[in-house]
Amino acid sequence: MTNDRSTEKKLWDGRFTEATDAFVEQFTASVQFDQVMANQDIRGSIAHATMLSAVGVITDAELASIVEGLTAIRKDIQQGQFQWSIGLEDVHMNIEKALTDRIGNVGKKLHTGRSRNDQVATDIRLYLRDEIDHISALLMRLQRGILALASKEAETIMPGLTHLQVAQPITFGHHLMAWSAMIERDYARLQDCRRRVNILPLGAAALAGTSYPIDRHLSASLLDFEGVAENSLDAVSDRDFAIEFSACASILMMHLSRWAEEIVLWSSPQFAFVDLPDRFCTGSSIMPQKKNPDVPELVRGKSGRVFGSLMALLTLMKGQPLAYNKDNQEDKEPLFDTVKTVSDCLTAFADMVPAMVPNRGNMRTAAMRGYATATDLADYLVKKGLPFRDAHDVVGKLVGTAIKQALDLAELPLATLQAESGLIAEDIYQVLTLEGSVNARNHLGGTAPDQVRAAVARAIARLDALAG
Ligand code: ARG
Repeated sequence: MTNDRSTEKKLWDGRFTEATDAFVEQFTASVQFDQVMANQDIRGSIAHATMLSAVGVITDAELASIVEGLTAIRKDIQQGQFQWSIGLEDVHMNIEKALTDRIGNVGKKLHTGRSRNDQVATDIRLYLRDEIDHISALLMRLQRGILALASKEAETIMPGLTHLQVAQPITFGHHLMAWSAMIERDYARLQDCRRRVNILPLGAAALAGTSYPIDRHLSASLLDFEGVAENSLDAVSDRDFAIEFSACASILMMHLSRWAEEIVLWSSPQFAFVDLPDRFCTGSSIMPQKKNPDVPELVRGKSGRVFGSLMALLTLMKGQPLAYNKDNQEDKEPLFDTVKTVSDCLTAFADMVPAMVPNRGNMRTAAMRGYATATDLADYLVKKGLPFRDAHDVVGKLVGTAIKQALDLAELPLATLQAESGLIAEDIYQVLTLEGSVNARNHLGGTAPDQVRAAVARAIARLDALAG
């Protein structure tokens, strides 16, 4: 990157009588960050030039020269040999200037019937579409990892919690399938968002359209856009598609953050439900015994910057009159940061989640504590004819007795149980087992191992259908 101002003549300074202030030049430039869209910018320019030649605005020979120049520039950029210049402000003008330097005056025809306003809107949409596809693939990889673990752990019993306290026994596979359900919705949300991202703004020019006989449907099909933006003012100015993506990303990060919190708890010595392989943890510089779950903690922490970017984008948009305003240049860093953060966090989770090693014994022991089968006892009484509220009361008293004697419900003698309700018989001990409890919840959406296996199979079928 050069800051050399003297060498760069602005592409727009025809009417200007003094050079841009040195600080203003730095302040208004975006090439430091928008160069990540170089590929999309070149792809958009090649499509635009192809359309211009198809409608007769430039000749076939001019098109060939422009395409050859842009292709060579793309190669230079890929090989790190392109000299970016702050003086040329943004990715668009850097590439356009390089094209003219390379192929001469024909390069100056590329911008016919186009403005940076519709150009940048096109580039961001192309960029975001690519990144949505990349993130979607990561979501699928993560979901497959979750499904593999869930099917292995379909019968593993753990305590299900409400208010972070033992509530009822569940299967670990069922818990993991809750994560799978979340990620599936995150995927669907992104696909839905993609449909609105995938609309062509090019042709809107600065704000009102252009007087050249352009063919916007041709540009759209060259760039694989599903549709053409129908209003030029809207096309160049709204960034709702980026905001929508950030909202999807925020919800996704909220999910990852919740799982991260669970993984931090589960891997703590207090819970010890799972072991995280060493490669996902770090040590402490002072406490030799420590193995810290840095990866999930960082994912939990990084949710904050994604939520922050969503707020930044909403705020950046809310006061803007139609049409384009330079405020919109501020859309890029939050958007790029969100894309990188989400991709990194998904990569970390896709690697880490299937590598978690469950401690089945500890999970089971924890499920035994906390009277997790109390609801089963109440349901047993209801099946014997007691109204549920009365059953609730009987079991509450029995739990009180068990707490006083430091015993689990299943450890109370039959006589003690029967003292509270004559409806209780020997068969109660079957009901009070953890297996009895989870197997009883054998309906669609329930925690029974059979249901977990069925849910995994359905999710795999849906993934396979998506993968085509
Ligand atoms: N770098 C600018 C952006 O990101 C490109 C569009 C500039 N258009 C303008 N009229 N100044 O928004």
